[in-house]
Amino acid sequence: MHINTLEKRWLYVALGMIALFVGAMFYTSYSRNIHPPSHVETIDSASLHLSEEFAEDKLGVQPQPLADGRLQVKLVAARYGFYPRQIEVPAGRKIVFRLATLDVLHGVHVPMTNMSTMIVPGFVAEVTTVFPKPGEYPVLCNEYCGLGHDHMWSKLTVVAPDTWRAPTQTGVQQ
Ligand code: CUA
Repeated sequence: MHINTLEKRWLYVALGMIALFVGAMFYTSYSRNIHPPSHVETIDSASLHLSEEFAEDKLGVQPQPLADGRLQVKLVAARYGFYPRQIEVPAGRKIVFRLATLDVLHGVHVPMTNMSTMIVPGFVAEVTTVFPKPGEYPVLCNEYCGLGHDHMWSKLTVVAPDTWRAPTQTGVQQ
């Protein structure tokens, strides 16, 4: 069988590129331990309610900020909502969201902001963001997760920094 020289050359280029990309993938995953960016830790999704961090009474805006001043918010995604259903945070402040799913893959998305990530079963998803403007925002699911997917949303209220008060306890915010 005769293959045109030019065609042969391109064949080698294509094969070379595939080898390069596959090589890069193996190199980064093994030597650098690279994972999807927001999935920083593993967690047992089936026993979230028993976990130190994601038990029902530990959720929501945390009363104490982190050492670097970031406010911490913990949410559990489950068919069909983000819990707690309503949270209130101050505008213009760095907020780190830590999220875990109780059941299947969900996505979290706050429209008109850069708050968006997948929540993969077995992993903790982490996003740091700032909401510049006060307002009411929906917290939507953007990964199909079942029949109720379209109705999976919770509420985020962003208030002016001087009117915001840190909650005294986790769980449902007053
Ligand atoms: Cu949760 Cu779609």
